[in-house]
Amino acid sequence: MAGLSCWLNTDAADAQPLTAHEWQQIHPGVWRITIGIPEEFTPVSSRLVPPQAGAFTRLPHADKSPTMSVEGKRTARGCTVRLPLGAGEQIFGFGLQFLSFAQRGKKKIARVNADPKIDTGDSHAPVPFYVTTGGIGILVDTARYASFYFGDAHAKPAHPIAAVSDANLAPKYTGNSNEAETEFIYVDVPVAAGVDIYLFDGPDMLSAVQRYNVFSGGGFIPPEWGLGFWYRNLAKAGQQDALALAREFRDRKIPCDVIGLEPGWQSHAYSCTFVWDKKRFPDPPGFLRATSDQQYKVNLWEHAFTHPASPLFPAIEPCSGDFGVWQGLVPDFAGAQARDAFGEFHGKTLIDAGVSGFKLDECDNSDFTGGWSFPECSAFPSGIDGEQMHSVFGLRYQMAIWNEFRKRGRETYGLVRSSGALATPYPFVLYSDLYDHRQYIRALVNSGFSGLLWCPEVRQATSEEDLIRRLQSVVFSPLAQVDCWYMKSPPWMQLDRGKNNAGELLKDWESLEARCREIIGWRMQMIPYLMAAFQRYRDDGTPPFRALVLDSPQDQRLYRVDDQYMVGDRMMVAPLFAGEATRTVVFPQGKWQDFWTGEAVPGGTKLSLPESTERIPVYVKSGSIVPWADVGLHAGAPESRRLTARVYGDGSLPFTFNGDNSALRLSWRDGHGSAETKKYEVYRWKRLG
Ligand code: GAL
Repeated sequence: MAGLSCWLNTDAADAQPLTAHEWQQIHPGVWRITIGIPEEFTPVSSRLVPPQAGAFTRLPHADKSPTMSVEGKRTARGCTVRLPLGAGEQIFGFGLQFLSFAQRGKKKIARVNADPKIDTGDSHAPVPFYVTTGGIGILVDTARYASFYFGDAHAKPAHPIAAVSDANLAPKYTGNSNEAETEFIYVDVPVAAGVDIYLFDGPDMLSAVQRYNVFSGGGFIPPEWGLGFWYRNLAKAGQQDALALAREFRDRKIPCDVIGLEPGWQSHAYSCTFVWDKKRFPDPPGFLRATSDQQYKVNLWEHAFTHPASPLFPAIEPCSGDFGVWQGLVPDFAGAQARDAFGEFHGKTLIDAGVSGFKLDECDNSDFTGGWSFPECSAFPSGIDGEQMHSVFGLRYQMAIWNEFRKRGRETYGLVRSSGALATPYPFVLYSDLYDHRQYIRALVNSGFSGLLWCPEVRQATSEEDLIRRLQSVVFSPLAQVDCWYMKSPPWMQLDRGKNNAGELLKDWESLEARCREIIGWRMQMIPYLMAAFQRYRDDGTPPFRALVLDSPQDQRLYRVDDQYMVGDRMMVAPLFAGEATRTVVFPQGKWQDFWTGEAVPGGTKLSLPESTERIPVYVKSGSIVPWADVGLHAGAPESRRLTARVYGDGSLPFTFNGDNSALRLSWRDGHGSAETKKYEVYRWKRLG
């Protein structure tokens, strides 16, 4: 039993110290300590994907037992756990956070919710996992809405003081953490009589995150088409409209791989029937054939709430919660019965017909957006309540669908509005459309700490500049999507929703379209580079999109940089935000070069860029070799296989990608490049800087 401190010997009648077992190593560098008696249902106990056991050997060796002492006590509310926090130690992670980056000094609640307006921790994908600059990661294994006090809660003073030294009358409203001191993290877990804590050893933050990802089941490589450009149609679009737009994109040379259909493909959408609407889509097989003939994939919008008119209703009814949403059933995705019935129906009626994936909407909670979801006091046949269900609903929903693709040996890449702990292996990207550009980027930067992918999708823009800036960012993200679910024509034809739907186009829309076409083209050009970034995700859990501080943890300037990020190992992106006159770019140590021009920028510096900058600022590590494809209209087009190898500086950092049926190895020596390729052709070497 770990030593008990005075915090545990509390006077409160209802509080008792909990037995803490010793740290136990369960995988190389992954340790668990059990405090009290954990609940039966937790993210780890109910996991559906095992750890990627073989990949632990690719991470730095770490087998020294943790010295960290963790203590817990049982309270009338559940249990509270206390973990140490060192002087100067900073905290990152906690899932998809929109409103803050460095978490020390904050109170955060792991509560699933769409569209948080203030920085409470609520999010589409809160994850009770954080990493610290001490080089460790901590997962508190609970599906409860646990509160984390990241250094902002302190024990009461123990002794009286004879006299005050100085009058201090100024109100202290600025947070209650003294980062220079040793403090504690308190985690308040409601209901539970105990909890398991998992520790992921570094030795540095990036390795701790990798270990968490590998423990979660490992990263994955999306299908190539998933990394192309995605466009979602107007919700009410029918078969003819969708096909006309698909043809128009090809005619107007706008690259696109995935066409998304929004609610209107279904006969009833809120809640869902999961069957085609015969009026809008009179011939679904013909529609899927016609899109496939033009090399498009089709992604279908839906949510899980099952309408009484759905053919799925009878199978879901016995395995659903006791509350409904929009008059539909809430499938008990914590149990195999609902997952299987739901998945098999999708498999037979939609996946077998050729649908490539789904957008799993509305599976988050809705405390801030109308309160439409199921209540926390819901009960489910699997034995869990609504609070626990909210914490796992998005992830279990992903499994219901993903499993059908797995059974068929088919790849998918989809969208989802909620996720949680241990999400790393799931081929889904989080999205939502109600954020400003700055928040979208902060969420992208934060997502990489916790095994999540995030799409800063473009739906609307306040100006042409805003459209351009958002599009520039989204092409440098895990999923490049324009979500035009409420506009008939692409935003570059008319930004204003009313005018767009009335068919009133901008006078010079073709020039705006040309700028957007070029930006979408960059996406197609970088697919080979992205494939390599995702390959590392699969091989050793390195997040393909991540905060700069993960690569340079010693650089304290980076503790606050939440508007720049790494893409893969070589590329750093610093988006511009419309309306801001300048932006500062912070450069980690080392030598950097402007990706577009090759111009050298010394590391350890800051650069101030004027807003007039036309392209999105992207930099690469000097020495990088970056494959840059010709622009194809889809990821499988012959142009997408023809590459220019961009060589920066001395070209000393070779590029390697080993796919299942494609490979690319590029190196540079003595002024000459050599390429080993499978499926690609390198027809040009371009030196920059
Ligand atoms: C929203 C979703 C949008 C769009 C819309 C359709 O909840 O975030 O992207 O799909 O539903 O009704």
